[in-house]
Amino acid sequence: MSKHFVTLNVNGEDHDVVVASNKTLLDVLRDQLNMPETKYGCGTGECGACTVLVEDFTAINSCMTLAATMDGRKITTAAGLQKGNELHPVQQAFIDKAAVQCGYCTPGMVIKSVSLLAKNPNPTEQEIREGLEGSICRCTGYLKIVEAVAAASKAMAGTAG
Ligand code: FES
Ligand code: FES
Repeated sequence: MSKHFVTLNVNGEDHDVVVASNKTLLDVLRDQLNMPETKYGCGTGECGACTVLVEDFTAINSCMTLAATMDGRKITTAAGLQKGNELHPVQQAFIDKAAVQCGYCTPGMVIKSVSLLAKNPNPTEQEIREGLEGSICRCTGYLKIVEAVAAASKAMAGTAG
């Protein structure tokens, strides 16, 4: 198996790592960089649990992305969204709207939501549902997640409450 030397900028910090050519970005985040917040669900691009942001606002399934192709790229996981002790408005909205049950889907859902709101800051309910397609939640029935994204949209526009 060939090896590759890559630098991954994860949550604002550069990491120089040696990755086998068959390792996914998800493998490297979890197993080599000890960042377990990005979840392994299906491993086949079906569930969205492993979603991360690349270059600010592009959401990708890290289980379907070879780490060797990510040299020099900027990657953000759910743990990288908060600023100091302050949660990202999407993270706060998921808490406020009780959009978390077991929490396994939550990092991926939050990341997908951040990407969605970057592209469409004021989405309709239908647009939120479409934007979250590919992210599966077995617990919540999605309604509270949709409400959380709508609340985050308002908060980010400065019109909450
Ligand atoms: S673990 Fe990547 S899409 Fe399910
Ligand atoms: S909260 Fe359990 S899978 Fe979504």
